[in-house]
Amino acid sequence: MAGERGSMKIILGITGGIAAYKAAELVRLFVKRGCEVEVVMTDAATRFITPLTMQTLSGRPVRLAQWDDMAHIDLSRGSAAILVAPATADFIAKIAQGHASDLLSSLCLARDCSLFLVPAMNRQMWDNPATRRNLAQILEDGVHVVGPLEGVQACGETGMGRMAEPDEIASAVLSALSPKILSGKKFLVTAGPTLEAIDPVRVITNLSSGKMGYAVAQAALDSGAQVILVSGPTCLPPPVGVKFVPVASAREMRDAVMANVGGSDVFVGVAAVADYRVANPSSSKIKKGGTLKLELEPNPDILQEVASMENPPFCVGFAAETGNLEENARLKMKRKNVPMLVGNLAQDALGRDESEIVIFSSGAAKQLPRAAKTKLAAQLIEEIARAIS
Ligand code: CTP
Repeated sequence: MAGERGSMKIILGITGGIAAYKAAELVRLFVKRGCEVEVVMTDAATRFITPLTMQTLSGRPVRLAQWDDMAHIDLSRGSAAILVAPATADFIAKIAQGHASDLLSSLCLARDCSLFLVPAMNRQMWDNPATRRNLAQILEDGVHVVGPLEGVQACGETGMGRMAEPDEIASAVLSALSPKILSGKKFLVTAGPTLEAIDPVRVITNLSSGKMGYAVAQAALDSGAQVILVSGPTCLPPPVGVKFVPVASAREMRDAVMANVGGSDVFVGVAAVADYRVANPSSSKIKKGGTLKLELEPNPDILQEVASMENPPFCVGFAAETGNLEENARLKMKRKNVPMLVGNLAQDALGRDESEIVIFSSGAAKQLPRAAKTKLAAQLIEEIARAIS
């Protein structure tokens, strides 16, 4: 159920509110993170977003309001959670009272898994004493509540009641469901590319997207670790809950790592750190004309420096190779003196959502077949947890 991310099934219930459109993005995020999603919609929800949209995104038939046979109750069997997003004031009242008047409320009442409600409603409905009572009741009953947020509402008013954003909902749910195998552990993770200045407007960089590093940070968070993420520039939002340290150049990354490494239990170097920087970057924009020669000098090797500290954290390196994966990875492990190294073929991984990795540790090599980086990151975190326990 909640143990193996790859096989985690989530029932996503949608009730009738304007925020129902955000449920589409939510399905996409769960699928991307390796979950199976089964969508159940109330009658009212189908007026806001079509079952066809939800069916296409989830890749499964959508269950609608009709409560036609008891078999539907079985839907929640084998599921890690039921998540209702958006949950209207009316639906929260039903859950507080224990109603079973349609398929979704029946599923919630007959569940044997966690229930998450994501309220979305007008601010006065949210503040109404009846809603407050219902909310206090469901919290007492062990239901998880995600959000709501404060802000501008569909009705034009401003206040509390806006539905939480899909990425926050997905993180909150997956975090709550993951076993806390790293509770009390401190992780320092580097991610993304670095930028090495040529002049004030030009840089040398690489094609790293940061996806794997961010996935590792998220998986460590989900497992209960405290995480510091030192990242070169990417287009990704930092995982909710990390201490985020943005940097640009390799030297800035090195300084940020050394300033934060004290007390870390694990260091994971996922960043594609530029091995060289321009020796004398120009302070003004270089004008074109003739051949331009750049002199490059080596950057510090961050992983090697951390691994050679007096009491180093457990160090995990990444090696993106274009061939001879095992041989190059083993050599790199030895040269940098790290107990674990993740190898992949750069051409199959850079910038993509999926990858195929091999986890090398002393003597052993564990091949993980092609999968979403989020899933691979969760598996890597399990390996790290085993290694440091
Ligand atoms: N790394 C680092 N600092 C550097 C270069 C690399 O911390 N200046 C880390 C990366 O984050 C990664 C590992 O070292 O965890 C391997 O990176 P890679 O670029 O594959 O190795 P290099 O040592 O640069 O070897 P080469 O480029 O020659 O393959």
